[in-house]
Amino acid sequence: MSSKEQNPQALQTLDELVTALSEEDSTNYSDILRLAQLPSTAFESCCSWSSESYTRNCVIENEDFELILLCWQPGQLTPIHDHGGEECWVKIIEGEFKETVYKEDDAGILEMVKTTESKANDITYMIDFMGFHSLENLSEKKSLSLHLYAKPIRSCQVFDEETGELTNKDLTYDTIA
Ligand code: SIN
Repeated sequence: MSSKEQNPQALQTLDELVTALSEEDSTNYSDILRLAQLPSTAFESCCSWSSESYTRNCVIENEDFELILLCWQPGQLTPIHDHGGEECWVKIIEGEFKETVYKEDDAGILEMVKTTESKANDITYMIDFMGFHSLENLSEKKSLSLHLYAKPIRSCQVFDEETGELTNKDLTYDTIA
C-alpha cells in the first residue's frame, strides 16, 4: 500500500511539502514534517558532497522559513552551536544521527545534558532556551537530513572546543536549488 493510501494527507514530493509549509504558520510545521513521506531520491537534485564538512543545500528560503538539506559523509559532524534565536526542526531522511545537547551552567560553562540517536523519519526540535547542540552522522554511509528553520537563520553562535569561546558565525549555503 502506498503512503498516500495509508494516509491521504501524506506529502510525497518536495513541492507538496514546500506548499504545505507556505500555507501554514510555524505552529503547524512539526505536523507538516510528520506528514512528509519523501524518499531520499526526492532530494537528488539538491545534494552536494564534500570530504571537508557536511554541506548545506538550500531547498527554499523565504521571509517565513528556510528549508535546507544537509548532506553528510560518514563521521561528519557540526560544531556545538545555537540557533540564532530561531526554531529548528530536523527530519532524518537517510542514515542514523546522534544529537548531543549542552546547556550553560551558572558559570557560563557548557555542560552536556543529553544525547539522542535518531533514524529515518525521526524529527527533533531545538530552540535557544533548550541550549546548544551538535549533530553527528553515525552511519557508515552518506546520509541526509532536512532542516527547517523559522524564521531563516542567518548566523549562530559556535563553540570553539580549543579556546572554550563562543564565536558568531555567518551561515552560508553550499548550493541553492
Ligand atoms: C546547520 O544548519 O548547519 C546545523 C544543523 C542544525 O543545527 O540544524
